[in-house]
Amino acid sequence: MSRVYRTVHDLKGFSLKSCASMPEPTGVLMCPPDHYDVVDVKNPFMAGQAGSVNRGLARRQWEDVKAAFERAGKPVDLIEPLPGLEDMVFCANQTFVGVTPRMERVCLLGQMRHSSRRREVPAFAAYFQSRGYRVASLKDPAVLFEGAGDAVWHPSKRLIWGGHGFRTEPEAYEEVSRLFDAPVVLLKLVNERFYHLDTCFCPLTSEAVLIYPSAFDAASLELILKIFPVVLTAGETEAVRRMACNAAVVDSRAAIVQRGSPSVARHMAVMGLEVIEVDTTEFIKAGGSVYCLKMFTY
Ligand code: ARG
Repeated sequence: MSRVYRTVHDLKGFSLKSCASMPEPTGVLMCPPDHYDVVDVKNPFMAGQAGSVNRGLARRQWEDVKAAFERAGKPVDLIEPLPGLEDMVFCANQTFVGVTPRMERVCLLGQMRHSSRRREVPAFAAYFQSRGYRVASLKDPAVLFEGAGDAVWHPSKRLIWGGHGFRTEPEAYEEVSRLFDAPVVLLKLVNERFYHLDTCFCPLTSEAVLIYPSAFDAASLELILKIFPVVLTAGETEAVRRMACNAAVVDSRAAIVQRGSPSVARHMAVMGLEVIEVDTTEFIKAGGSVYCLKMFTY
């Protein structure tokens, strides 16, 4: 059955408490930055950045992000980077993975907006296939879907937040809901700086979320406020320049976040998270920070 909620009126009978529980991810998948570069402009962060990546620094920053996940207790597995796929390092977008209520591990393949990124997807399909996941595709190959960049699991609950507006089309979520047997709450993005849901929406715990409010339309903000008892906001500098909402939260216990976001770090600490700061400035040039550099696996 598919359950997709678009406005608070659709929420009749819904409560977070009644959502079944969902296991925490057991590991992380990352792609080494061997071929990482900025060669075109897919999002506003990339404007004026072509050719500006410092490869050595990017490699050191990526190693630190990897070490941070390991320190937070998640083993990191690697997928082989492919030449000519300069955005493949952003492992959050090619697929959306999770487990069904019957504990079957499923990988839904992305249908990327940009043709250069479409070429990344087969490598991830092969990776998850070889690890025993059921690999699925949307029925309609014309519907855009950018994986965990726009589809975000609610911490420890069978509930998916579904971003759309720039990279993913809302039509994708009926099938996402059916495939994972979980309700989906749709969130419409209206500010092109925040082109993926993971750039402006970061659940910290099952009760608390960090958002950049003006990235959303009014109906979406209402949904967030209705479902999360605690909604914390990031200011413009931290959200835009530091991509602070693109932090990765591990088991509602630790948050790995771009350095130089003191207000966001304070919000995280107040919610009881250990804050692990890293530098991802070379990757912010392409519009991604910690969250997009990995895929949580099960
Ligand atoms: N340059 C990449 C793109 O525009 C960055 C992706 C960042 N990933 C993310 N989940 N926000 O597609």
